[in-house]
Amino acid sequence: MKKILIIGGGAMGSAFSIPCLENNNKVTITEPYNKAFIKDLSSKKKFHSTLKINLPKKLIFKSYSNKIFNENFDLIVIALSLPGINFIGRELKNIKNKIPILILTKGLKFDKKKNKILTISELLSKNYNVKNLTVLKGPCLAKELANKKFTNVVVANKNIKIAKWIRNQIATKYYKVEFSKDVVGVEICSAIKNIYSMIIGAGQNLNMSSSLFQKSIIEIKYLTKYFKGDDTTVFGLAGIGDLYVSAAGGRNSKMGYYLGKGYTFVKAKKKFMFKETVEGEKLAREIGPYILKKIKKKQNSFDEQLSQISFK
Ligand SMILES: NC(=O)c1ccc[n+]([C@@H]2O[C@H](COP(=O)([O-])OP(=O)(O)OC[C@H]3O[C@@H](n4cnc5c(N)ncnc54)[C@H](O)[C@@H]3O)[C@@H](O)[C@H]2O)c1
Repeated sequence: MKKILIIGGGAMGSAFSIPCLENNNKVTITEPYNKAFIKDLSSKKKFHSTLKINLPKKLIFKSYSNKIFNENFDLIVIALSLPGINFIGRELKNIKNKIPILILTKGLKFDKKKNKILTISELLSKNYNVKNLTVLKGPCLAKELANKKFTNVVVANKNIKIAKWIRNQIATKYYKVEFSKDVVGVEICSAIKNIYSMIIGAGQNLNMSSSLFQKSIIEIKYLTKYFKGDDTTVFGLAGIGDLYVSAAGGRNSKMGYYLGKGYTFVKAKKKFMFKETVEGEKLAREIGPYILKKIKKKQNSFDEQLSQISFK
């Protein structure tokens, strides 16, 4: 039995607790930010308002404080969304022991000082000196995992022994775990698929979406190589695998659908997706200006373009 701490009680962090508990681990979850999740997790029935299930009784909820890192956990899991990454970097900066840390968060950050796009593991290690990082990515809808539906993900670490050790703590009959040494490629693919699923969603019929799917793969391959990832990763779970699930039915492809209908991003968000986070949009705003500069396109402000995207 290992002691696992999950930081982030959103849909993914909470769903991830299920295979961890099934492996007889002692699992603690903490939520640093969202009051609704704190309420869900600290309630008697542990009914999760996004997942619409009662989480297992064995799941321990603890209020967030950085003192929690003084407890002797064997594995710390980061399940915050991208806006929480700098926060958790600052919090983990001073932890003394080298507990393995597993990152579930998908996304990339633009580092203004370095004028560089960083993956999440790069950001945590370079800017906050966080050690012993492993990433877990791949096609995984939190609701499906929470309901123990078949899910296949990839754990990436240059040291495959650590990836295997993590697999042993989390894999179940329905949660299958593969390995990869290509940490950068896995992180790049799993982040940018959110942008491409929006593009594929913009196709107004299946023939068109298939064409956009194929073009997306070519671009994902180009970008993965550009960031020094292994381009074969594009054909794995973090690449094509995750792109499929996001394009088939996620918030990004839903936004793409409205863009394809000719709505601007701003109008579609206001009218149809007011409360929903579109991760692809956030990422496009984060890395778009840098990428556009790199490919030397003379365009006005990226914000202006994003609000004017229309596939008419
Ligand atoms: N690796 C995988 O298999 C996998 C699968 C699905 C989703 N994800 C990723 O997991 C992450 C979380 O997804 P989710 O579906 O649980 O989202 P969610 O919206 O349900 O939960 C978001 C979590 O991030 C926290 N958060 C948000 N903004 C914050 C801030 N400013 N400071 C601190 N914390 C903040 C919230 O409190 C909450 O804990 C996303 O990056 C998503 O892409 C990973």
